[in-house]
Amino acid sequence: MTMLLSYCSLRFSRLSIAGTIAFWCIVLLVYIHPIRLFTLEDTKSSGVLSGPRIPERIWYKIGPKGHDLQSREWMDDCLRKNPTHRAEILTDQLGERFVNESFASRPDIIETYFSLPLPIHKADFLRYLILYAEGGIWSDLDVSCEDVPISNWLPAEFQERANVVVGLEFDVGWGDHIFRQFATWTIMAAPKSPHMLRVIDDIVDAMREVTQSGQLPTNMIDTVVDFTGPRRFTRGILESLGSAVNGTISPDSFTHLLEPKMIEDVVIMPGYSFSASVNKYDPSDVVGPPLVKHHYAGSWKNANGGEA
Ligand SMILES: *[C@@H]1O[C@H](CO)[C@@H](O)[C@H](O)[C@H]1NC(C)=O
Ligand SMILES: *[C@@H]1O[C@H](CO)[C@@H](O)[C@H](O)[C@H]1NC(C)=O
Repeated sequence: MTMLLSYCSLRFSRLSIAGTIAFWCIVLLVYIHPIRLFTLEDTKSSGVLSGPRIPERIWYKIGPKGHDLQSREWMDDCLRKNPTHRAEILTDQLGERFVNESFASRPDIIETYFSLPLPIHKADFLRYLILYAEGGIWSDLDVSCEDVPISNWLPAEFQERANVVVGLEFDVGWGDHIFRQFATWTIMAAPKSPHMLRVIDDIVDAMREVTQSGQLPTNMIDTVVDFTGPRRFTRGILESLGSAVNGTISPDSFTHLLEPKMIEDVVIMPGYSFSASVNKYDPSDVVGPPLVKHHYAGSWKNANGGEA
């Protein structure tokens, strides 16, 4: 940014067409404005909610090598289609600082974050922490937006009441008895949702048990989905919803879902919304448009726990 500015002023002093160049520099600055690294100052100004309940912030976490070209294109495309949203990009270090500062009153959460053994566990946990503390939309880097703007994802009657929005990953075409888990590559939440806190607390408890037993499960990679991933997330949300209704939420209530369903303040999106490529509908099923596409680029079972 500073380089860009000094380049702008250098050219400004030299050329007679300086005005034109300054104009384009400003256009460029405005264009790149919504994409920037997350700074902690942002967290201090976001206390008062106005406008949409779910903040118009899309959260991304980049690895040590930063964005690859493809994921950067997907992000830019998403922002073009959603001009009122802004991207918040976290590096490993910003993620650590965020956890340290936002959860200063919960040392058990900080300790859990730092003791999770693999980057993939931390990336899972971080999304729940961010969505709890700040709210917005979590997006994995291998997710692209389809054409429906985010502001139109939910039926109008749900928009004002939704505090958490999840999409079914596997639903249709997998038989009746599969575990109907929610995708975690795209999750929307308003800040301070007790459902999100439940997921966080469950991971803290699980990590405490592991620590007390004195040994990590023999293959933590194979248990990622259960330990911090979609299964953990889905169970936590459903249990928290169960407490909210003084009962249990049966998966039957969202099996073979053909339109968004609201349970309390949680909206469950059908498989075609976030996970169109893995749900196989009958020709007679009336389905809506896909909202995001997951490219399964995260070959996450690698030696570095899923990051490049
Ligand atoms: C966060 O806190 C941990 C533990 O106290 C410390 O080791 C680490 O350096 C801190 N990280 C940042 C980025 O502040
Ligand atoms: C659940 O139980 C609590 C306390 O017993 C009560 O205050 C609350 O209204 C109940 N909620 C529902 C949805 O029945």
